[in-house]
Amino acid sequence: MNQIHTISQLFRHILLQRKLSLASKQAAMTPVQLSLITESWWYSSSCGSGNLHVESISGVVQEALGRASMTVHDVDAVAVTVEPGLALCLKVGLDHAKSLVRLSGKPLIPIHHMQAHALTARMTDRVDFPFLVLLISGGHCLLTVARDVADFVLLGESLDDAPGEAFDKIARQLNLKNLPQFTSVSGGVAIETMASQGDPKSFDLPLMLTQVRTCDFSFSGLKSQAKRIIAHEEKRQGVSRDDILPNAADICASFQYGVLKHLARRVQRSLLFCELSGLLPKHKTLVVSGGVGSNQFIRSGLQKVCDMYSTQLICPPPRLCTDNGVMIAWNGMEKLLCGKNFSAADPEAVDFQPKSPIGEDISSSVRDAAIKLSPLKLL
Ligand code: KG4
Ligand code: ZN
Repeated sequence: MNQIHTISQLFRHILLQRKLSLASKQAAMTPVQLSLITESWWYSSSCGSGNLHVESISGVVQEALGRASMTVHDVDAVAVTVEPGLALCLKVGLDHAKSLVRLSGKPLIPIHHMQAHALTARMTDRVDFPFLVLLISGGHCLLTVARDVADFVLLGESLDDAPGEAFDKIARQLNLKNLPQFTSVSGGVAIETMASQGDPKSFDLPLMLTQVRTCDFSFSGLKSQAKRIIAHEEKRQGVSRDDILPNAADICASFQYGVLKHLARRVQRSLLFCELSGLLPKHKTLVVSGGVGSNQFIRSGLQKVCDMYSTQLICPPPRLCTDNGVMIAWNGMEKLLCGKNFSAADPEAVDFQPKSPIGEDISSSVRDAAIKLSPLKLL
């Protein structure tokens, strides 16, 4: 029940947030009544069960509308995530969105989950197209240039794990959930908190893909090395596999620093590539979003890279970096208001896509450019 309550709060927030954003940020646009969303991916990670997903969605939408003293007839459009994500969850969201559209006759606006993450920054800050985006979450890791509301080019992405996944696995291996302060937070938050008490230089973790001059990422080697360190320290200190290592904070700090170093090198190359290829204007902006983007240590490290290349760094507030419904509503509203027709001509024909690239893949051009990097000082 607690999960469902949280979902209700989220929807309520979307309804209120919409009014706020319109008033403060988009004064030049025609005011719209309401953009209502159904955010499937969010449910999948929060509820963890397809059945609960199905059972919850109708009540959540009704409660959200009720709290806003509105009905579905008051909304301007129904924006719904259709790509990428878990098929089961996307289907629940899309089916429900279609039922709302049948009931209300409002347009259906299909949304790409990763594009929505990328564009959230335009709700919180003044960010004009084109801009560079680093998306770092539990399921994704990519560098992209957002050229317009639905026009993205991909510079590079993870070849194996996503960074959030690596944070979660290392937190689990360190048994951080056994500490009362971490029982209900993500592995990433637990590691960031522990790391603030540790020395990032205490353990040497390898820098990944140093020989490959691309903007692609790899986190599996980093994760394996951190696991080896934990196993070795447990043995050395005679700590059982269920206990917390006395030097867990140092391991967290070193691992987090390892993640930052890898991200920073790829961002550095992407900024140079954008300069070389004219993909970004003179005054460049980097948006960092996705769950891992709420990590303050990583943000401050990336700020140093941005300072080196006269680039503005924008990070949405943590609650909008992690998966949320507001970003889907915002993306729907941008699509609705930008004048191009992003509404589905036939809502019933709209289908979901579990796998779907964010845009045109130009990572081979990045590889061909083979940009060599000058040293970075992050600490
Ligand atoms: O974007 P998100 O909410 O969901 C998707 O994966 O799409 O990201 C969740 C991920 C989790 O792996 C979580 O551990 C990580 O983001 N995360 C963090 C932090 N907060 C959340 N990782 C590092 N530092 C954080 N402060
Ligand atoms: Zn996400």
